[in-house]
Amino acid sequence: MLSSDAAIAVAHPNIALVKYWGKRDERLVLPCADSLSLTLDVFPTTTKVRLSPSATKDVVIVDGVAASGSVLRRIRDFLDLVREQAGRREYALVDTRNTVPVGAGLASSAAGFAALALAASSAYGMRLDPTSLSRLARRGSGSAARSIFGSFAVWHAGASGAPDPDLASYAEPVPHARLDVALVAALLDTGPKAVSSREAMRRTVATSPSFRDWLATTGTDLTLMRQALEAGDLPAVGEIAERNALGMHHTMETAVPPVRYRTPASRTVLEGVRHMRSRGIGAWATMDAGPNVKVLCAEGEAERVADELRELSGCPAVVARSGPGAALRTGAR
Ligand code: PMV
Repeated sequence: MLSSDAAIAVAHPNIALVKYWGKRDERLVLPCADSLSLTLDVFPTTTKVRLSPSATKDVVIVDGVAASGSVLRRIRDFLDLVREQAGRREYALVDTRNTVPVGAGLASSAAGFAALALAASSAYGMRLDPTSLSRLARRGSGSAARSIFGSFAVWHAGASGAPDPDLASYAEPVPHARLDVALVAALLDTGPKAVSSREAMRRTVATSPSFRDWLATTGTDLTLMRQALEAGDLPAVGEIAERNALGMHHTMETAVPPVRYRTPASRTVLEGVRHMRSRGIGAWATMDAGPNVKVLCAEGEAERVADELRELSGCPAVVARSGPGAALRTGAR
């Protein structure tokens, strides 16, 4: 068993079907709008946190290598927040292992901060309910708020005028969602992106002339998406997800200077997905802060869609299905 001052947590990435793009408060990581996602069953991150009472600083190992620079700073800032909430002072050793390429728009930060929030809060003796854990994970990376939960999750932006806006912004499972879907990820380029999502959002909010319209559309998309999930209507879910993602990319591409995550290879796959539909295959594309394209389809069509994507792009394609929420792993050291 792990001792009381250590914990291991596992969390999976989530891919938004109605995107989060833009913060209204950077320090508290409060989004401009609600968003909705599917947690995957692939690419887990496993994070161990052990308190080191004699240490004079936090030590962070990411994929076997000591973290430095902005990655280290971000994790230390997050641990400071956990210590503040727990009323503790000890530094910690963090050892985190990703199975997803980091910084490539494949939601590594969602899995990473969901696992860190659970492992760190447990190691520091906090026993948070899922809502409080979601709020905490949000402070590390907005989308991590949703990876606390399995399957479909909705992240509430919370009202700007709420007495405590931090309390009002958390994710929770989407009730009555009944849809068996697969998400096939075409891994076109797994290198780290040139512009971080944090910087890209900041630039979009500050300069994109279409950002206000994007926000209004995304509110409507969320309502329609919830209805489509409740009705188990895959074509509606796919259409909303695809237009929402393309709208997000349009708004950042009209920022000054523009943020362009779509590469020629992404465009080829986006076009190929439209072509699949014209041939009667139910497939819809979504993209995040990177060039990789994820394709939503019925579970039974996933292998066929993956083969088509491999053929089209010459790149690997990974089939994902609905996955679990963040969980503690017991019994390992
Ligand atoms: O959690 P962040 O700051 O990495 O932002 C992720 C934003 C998108 O992946 C592009 C959209 C989303 O809702 O996950």
